[in-house]
Amino acid sequence: MSQLSEKVSFIEKLPKRSLIIVSNREPYIHKKIGQFIKVSRPAGGLTSAMDEVLNAIGGKWVAWGSGSADRETVDNKSCVPVPPNRPRYTLKRVWLTPEEVDNYYHGYSNHVLWPLCHITLEKVYFRKKYWDDYQKVNQAFANAILEEADKRSIVWIHDYHLCLLPRMLRRINPELTIAHFWHIPWPDYSVFRVCPQAEEIIRALLSNDLIGFQIPLFVNNFIDCVCNLLEDARVDRARSNIIYKGHITKLQAFPISVDYKKFDSLASSPRTVKTIEQLKDRYNLYDKYIGIGVDRLEYTKGLIKRFQAIDLFFDRYPEYRGRFTFIQITVPTRIKEPYISYKATLEKLIREINKKYSTDTWMPIIYRDTKAEHEDLVAFYRMADVAIISSIYDGMNLVAKEFVASQVDMKGVLLLSEFAGAAEELDGAILVNPYDLEEFSECIRKALSMSRAERRSRMKTLRMQVKERDIYKWISDILEEISILYSMKPYRYRYVFKYLEKIPRDNLFLFLDYDGTLTPIVRTPEKAVLSEDMRSIIRMLKERMPVAIVSGRGLDDVKERVGLPDIIYAGNHGAEIWDGEKLVVSPELGDNKRILEQIIREMREALSSVRGVIIEEKGITASIHYRKVQSRDLGKVFDIFWSTAERYKDLFRITSGKKVFEIRPYGIWNKGDAVKWIIKNLGKDRMPIYIGDDVTDEDAFKILRGRGIGISVGRSEEADYYLRNQKEVKRFLVWLGDLDT
Ligand code: UDP
Ligand code: G6P
Repeated sequence: MSQLSEKVSFIEKLPKRSLIIVSNREPYIHKKIGQFIKVSRPAGGLTSAMDEVLNAIGGKWVAWGSGSADRETVDNKSCVPVPPNRPRYTLKRVWLTPEEVDNYYHGYSNHVLWPLCHITLEKVYFRKKYWDDYQKVNQAFANAILEEADKRSIVWIHDYHLCLLPRMLRRINPELTIAHFWHIPWPDYSVFRVCPQAEEIIRALLSNDLIGFQIPLFVNNFIDCVCNLLEDARVDRARSNIIYKGHITKLQAFPISVDYKKFDSLASSPRTVKTIEQLKDRYNLYDKYIGIGVDRLEYTKGLIKRFQAIDLFFDRYPEYRGRFTFIQITVPTRIKEPYISYKATLEKLIREINKKYSTDTWMPIIYRDTKAEHEDLVAFYRMADVAIISSIYDGMNLVAKEFVASQVDMKGVLLLSEFAGAAEELDGAILVNPYDLEEFSECIRKALSMSRAERRSRMKTLRMQVKERDIYKWISDILEEISILYSMKPYRYRYVFKYLEKIPRDNLFLFLDYDGTLTPIVRTPEKAVLSEDMRSIIRMLKERMPVAIVSGRGLDDVKERVGLPDIIYAGNHGAEIWDGEKLVVSPELGDNKRILEQIIREMREALSSVRGVIIEEKGITASIHYRKVQSRDLGKVFDIFWSTAERYKDLFRITSGKKVFEIRPYGIWNKGDAVKWIIKNLGKDRMPIYIGDDVTDEDAFKILRGRGIGISVGRSEEADYYLRNQKEVKRFLVWLGDLDT
């Protein structure tokens, strides 16, 4: 706890007891052993790290109650105070029937999402009942959380068992701050589309405020899936945000790590020195090179490939027979198929290798299939000359970092699969492609024959990296991001109402964007029709304050769509203004109108063979919509568009919006300029409020900085406040005009 308070100073900024951690696995398991109840803690850095966070600031942890005595130890709200001997926070358990465990946990989580995300597609096995119970159990988790949460709660979800949870929570309690950490890899779209519920899962995850991944590659893969699956999602790559249905989700890589100090000091302890001696005696390891592997019994860890490589190593380099012993520690989990068969295949292979090379005094592989506690693991880590991590795909791999942190003598070499997330971070390891068996066996030789000086300098570098980026940095980085999102929330959403409460309505000047603000985004621009409801709200509002509609559409088009006299219209992204009496046109149009006509002619011709392209001519600007184009034709559309646009890029500004390219001459007014002109000429003493959802509205938000207020539909960096969607825009406008609808 001391380390946490030391390193995570801003933890103070988070409101006490507001944090709710959610994971499938629980941090404390009550088990019946004969007549007694024993508390045990599952293996893994995550549970102990999260436990420390809650010890420091209090809060709740919601998880599946999987222990045989779990029910006996909770109160009538399924809660138990933990840690058992010195309670600091509450563990709330969710109860699952054996059938739900089969379908939600072994089924959808471990048989669909796990192999899918680890790109072992032949292992993906989908049944409808898995999905049904996955939804049911996610809902049970949501209900349990909602019983405990209030509007200011922060919910931090872990992993793939609970994909649907963010959406279920957001629906009921929209103001929650929700973060999700994805501990395993995220594949690209060509893989993820195999999932029958691909779209549903992505949609649900986009209810999070923050999604953390292990490495940047997984962030990019997630964005790739969003772009392919949700045509109405907007990706802001610069800020790594996804804006979907008015909600913003931030994506970021936070590589998980281990408690360096803990492993370093455990490994240095006299107890460990003694254990090493005992192990060396027991397994006859004196004067031997020692290799170590520590894994859950898990096909993604590439255990078969590891032992095939070791077999090849002894075959190719017979001088190491009798001189190199490899110790494999495996913990069986998820004891169902395909794990049962995998275990049998692995053990058969190990038996064969041992039979092939063993002598009277030496056995190449020592195999243990029970869990070792960290206190004992460090002895194996410390005495090893090489640790082999051969994952065929892995989110991070904590064993790699634990090995490094325990290498207090700096003599061991880390042989690390290039497909483990840890390979991105750990310079100094020998990277290996576990699929290439010759190279793999050669790398084992290289590790064992490396000079003492090189091993030392590599390990020194590795230890520095793990020390600097330990588990506390991981927690600190994530909580810092969460606390930023948390503090932004009430300020930007709720307080727009509070702020305006004090300002007389008659002093305001209201600016409204059209598409995406007054109407939802639709597949074709002509379908964006203003509802009668919204029209009558604007009609009533204009009696209280001047109203201007500012749109990317042509002026006549937007005027006709809104259909209200006595208000101001700006069309063509602000280049043309109807001030109620006359037309005002942006300066600097020059010859551009004629050239634009020429561009449009060229594009129409070139794109005539592609179905679904809509070219909207708006006089001095144009929009090319491709929302209705089939995805197989998109490449063609982009090719044609850019090859034409390139030639005119000095004269025209090309921007892209929601499935649309916009072409506008340089120098002509944008929405910000139009707002400026309108305020100057028609509303000097009023306070402007601008509501918009698009990138082109950012120009208006910028202009209003310090002189009015910008409200974006969905968050933006330039706006002062945000509303989530068109429904909230309507609610806000009704409130603003004190309207009785
Ligand atoms: N572990 C353990 N005892 C064992 C084997 C493994 O405590 O006998 C722990 C190991 O120390 C590590 C975790 O299990 O903290 C495995 O994490 P990793 O990221 O390597 O793989 P995962 O199991 O999460 O896929
Ligand atoms: C990986 C997953 C965790 C999971 C752990 C053990 O680390 O990311 O969410 O808890 O494996 O798997 P198990 O199925 O036993 O919980």
